[in-house]
Amino acid sequence: MSELETPYIRIGGEQAVRQLTKTFYQIMSETAQTKLIRDMHPDDIAVSEEKLYLFLTGWLGGPQLYTDKYGHPRLRGRHLPFSIGLEERDQWLYCMAQALATLHLDTLFAEQLMGSFAQTANFMRNREETTS
Ligand code: HEM
Repeated sequence: MSELETPYIRIGGEQAVRQLTKTFYQIMSETAQTKLIRDMHPDDIAVSEEKLYLFLTGWLGGPQLYTDKYGHPRLRGRHLPFSIGLEERDQWLYCMAQALATLHLDTLFAEQLMGSFAQTANFMRNREETTS
């Protein structure tokens, strides 16, 4: 494994990121326990899926597709219209963990990715809560 290899290459490139984002929203839509965050999204999930695909491609070290199309992600700002607390964060991470598992990645690599997703999801919280 080359040290220069990006997570994008390592995860499996375009095809894998497509599968990940598709499965992610499929799981969100099919899981009763994640209805809270599914309901924040448009009924037609295709645009959300495409945006997440474009964003994650760059986030993983691949081509900066999202930035090329939409400019700087301002991810936290774009999430401010939605109330995101511990429950919403954990629902999002649940969907991502399940979707990631379908890629059958090396365990350590998958754990590293989930660590990065957890940090980003935590940063998206914008609701005051008494516990953390
Ligand atoms: C913490 C829980 C999170 C919730 C509840 C949440 C929810 C949402 C919602 C409701 C939208 C708007 C749907 C749309 O515009 O199609 C959205 C957009 C988006 N989310 Fe999240 N999100 C969360 C975390 C994350 C994380 C961790 C990432 C990245 C790793 C992310 C990436 C994006 C992107 C790229 C968009 C599209 C932004 C745009 O261009 O409008 N989200 N999210």
